[in-house]
Amino acid sequence: MNTNKDTLIKQTKDAFFEKFSQIPEIICVSPGRINIIGEHVDYNNGLAMPVAIDRYLCVAMSRNHNRRINAFSTNLKDMFSSDLDNISETKLWHKYVQGSILEALGNKKCDSGINLLINSDIPMGKGLSSSAALELSILSATLKIFSIKLSDNEIIDRCQRVDHKYIGIKSGKLDQSACLLSKENSVFIIDFNNSSIEYIPIKLKAASWVLIDSMIKRELASSKYHERVEECQEAFKKLSTEISGLSNFRDINEEMLFKIDALPINLKKRVKHIISENQRVLKMKDAITSNNVRDIGYLLRESHESLKKDYEVSCKEIDYLLKSSEKLSYWHGGRIMGGGFGGSTLNLIKKGYEKEYIKVISDLYKKKFGIICEPHLISFVNGVETIDNISAN
Ligand code: GLA
Repeated sequence: MNTNKDTLIKQTKDAFFEKFSQIPEIICVSPGRINIIGEHVDYNNGLAMPVAIDRYLCVAMSRNHNRRINAFSTNLKDMFSSDLDNISETKLWHKYVQGSILEALGNKKCDSGINLLINSDIPMGKGLSSSAALELSILSATLKIFSIKLSDNEIIDRCQRVDHKYIGIKSGKLDQSACLLSKENSVFIIDFNNSSIEYIPIKLKAASWVLIDSMIKRELASSKYHERVEECQEAFKKLSTEISGLSNFRDINEEMLFKIDALPINLKKRVKHIISENQRVLKMKDAITSNNVRDIGYLLRESHESLKKDYEVSCKEIDYLLKSSEKLSYWHGGRIMGGGFGGSTLNLIKKGYEKEYIKVISDLYKKKFGIICEPHLISFVNGVETIDNISAN
């Protein structure tokens, strides 16, 4: 049993009843996610190792008879109402709601509208995929309520379309895949080239995962993200004219890469990260399978160096958090996680030292930047859950 999840579900049901005087037909609960390794490779058809974590977003939903979307967010304390056929979104979260409903419905004509309520304990905008959890739980609830059946891949594709079409972020499929497909006590490797996945049991008895949120949120983060996406597209195009039959960055190695004069140095660095990060994902599988915390820590640190020097998505605050951690004997390793340019570090800590680590690192960070960072101790959980047959009590 997961207390915060059960409490959140109960709160969501009660809040929905208070708002709409109905018992919800469906509640969908999506976890947030971290990514152990494989950063900025999803939109390059590479490999990643994400996993869902014990922070949740709940969506309670029922049909109504007026063909309107009536949505309430308990976190934002904001309500909106719009015509199902006549989309008039204003705020960002309205776009997520409407986009997810429309993507779920596709061409299906329906006579009813939707009442929904969102309630979440996933920190928003902190790189834990609160927005993927929002898309996924609204989309899954809508599919269930209107008896529409889609494969997992199609669900992930439609969530990604919400990002691309309604939000204007050209993200990959890492976040939605993690929130949908995760299994408790496992991580998984996903190959974005063909969407195949492989689950890897994880039982690190002697170590814990700790996130440290730097509280840095760069204004430019999304434009910088797009810059990286475009650089990779350009690099792939240039490489394809030099190497016949190139179908994936995994077809080349670093030695081949540096022989290609047509590629400017900044693009070479981006590709170098992708090549080495894909290899690290496979090495991570071995390290996890053999419970080797030293190797896991080493790979996390290598990944950070690559994200910092070659992919250039780190920042001084995150680098400071990691550099300061290096001096601590109970810190196995860590790296910047997610889209970058701020956000959180993911750290592997010797069991029993979690509190000490959090205290030491928070004090150092506050002294250096005057910022109070936010720690999160996490555990790995299953993906999206749909609950129907909801009773009044
Ligand atoms: C963000 C995007 C993901 C992925 C990561 C970087 O979280 O939403 O698709 O690209 O950044 O790995």
